[in-house]
Amino acid sequence: MITGASRGIGLAISERFRRAGVKVLAPTRKEMDLLLNESIDEYLLTLKAPVDILINNAGINILAGIAELSDGVMQDTMQTNLLAPLRIVRGIAKGMIKRKYGRIINISSIWGEITKPKRVTYSMSKAALNAMTRTLAVELAPYNILINSVAPGYVNTELTRKNNSVKEISAIKSGIPLKRLAEPEEIAEFVEFLASNRNTYITGQVIIIDGGFICL
Ligand SMILES: NC(=O)c1ccc[n+]([C@@H]2O[C@H](COP(=O)([O-])OP(=O)(O)OC[C@H]3O[C@@H](n4cnc5c(N)ncnc54)[C@H](OP(=O)(O)O)[C@@H]3O)[C@@H](O)[C@H]2O)c1
Repeated sequence: MITGASRGIGLAISERFRRAGVKVLAPTRKEMDLLLNESIDEYLLTLKAPVDILINNAGINILAGIAELSDGVMQDTMQTNLLAPLRIVRGIAKGMIKRKYGRIINISSIWGEITKPKRVTYSMSKAALNAMTRTLAVELAPYNILINSVAPGYVNTELTRKNNSVKEISAIKSGIPLKRLAEPEEIAEFVEFLASNRNTYITGQVIIIDGGFICL
């Protein structure tokens, strides 16, 4: 099961899984709106088959400096990026615990580790998501449930193009050691490994995929 698969990183992940023959559940916002707890709970109740892999991918990043930060942006960011993923894990983990198998991946961000102006709620949400990854990795390890965060740097998606002008993107590229943005498929490649039964010992980690950006 993957959230936010209508485009960008989520779409690349879901396409990769489908190509590998995995049955993918990719609820649209209409089927499960992460801003509404009732919508999440209702969707979880409709699940018929066991979910072995959960990818919490959907996320929002609304730029706002502290002086102009609205209550709505604070609430929506924490709800979408942190509380909804926690709620979904709570719903799905019960079955994983029973079956003693699960792989959970939270799509985080380098902005959970480092930061930049106007990203206070986004950075808070992703840092807390990483704390959730670590805590649940410890709690769920006895049940063979492995949970990790994947933290991309700049990825070539609508979100990046919305938050950065063409000029800014070109400046960003020159500041990345690999001199380009990541393609969503490059994130999907690693997520597929973490989600597979080939990953037997990585849990509780935040794995950064940023072309070397935060090393500079
Ligand atoms: N792009 C980057 O450079 C980058 C870097 C680091 C981390 N990330 C993280 O990677 C993840 C995916 O990013 P992206 O760039 O692929 O984003 P994107 O292109 O903006 O896509 C976001 C996805 O999340 C869904 N979504 C947002 N709010 C939702 C809600 N309330 N209910 C249900 N679905 C909702 C969107 O659905 P709709 O189609 O309905 O809007 C869409 O499918 C996010 O968690 C983001 O923070 C991205």
